[in-house]
Amino acid sequence: MTKTLVANITDIAPGTTKQVAFEDEDILLCNVGGTVYAINDVCTHDGGNLDQGELDGCEIECPRHGARFDVRTGEVKALPAVIPVAIYRVVREGDDLFLEV
Ligand code: FES
Repeated sequence: MTKTLVANITDIAPGTTKQVAFEDEDILLCNVGGTVYAINDVCTHDGGNLDQGELDGCEIECPRHGARFDVRTGEVKALPAVIPVAIYRVVREGDDLFLEV
């Protein structure tokens, strides 16, 4: 198990997102009511960048064709995507946010 510091909680207000680079991937950190979740920043439908989409509660909407994903689980909540988006484990220590793989 490795843990990598990727952000500080003060950089991501509740209801907003922040893109970070992690192991050659773009990862999107999503602050849902003070809890931060991490998903792959690439829509599984056709590669849209989810950081350009809107975080609505615990769902993010792809700006390209409107697919929605639950950022807590990666589950698809609206078509046209059918494949879940990858999620990552976030560990918070104080104000520091780590991704753990
Ligand atoms: S690329 Fe995201 S819905 Fe099509």
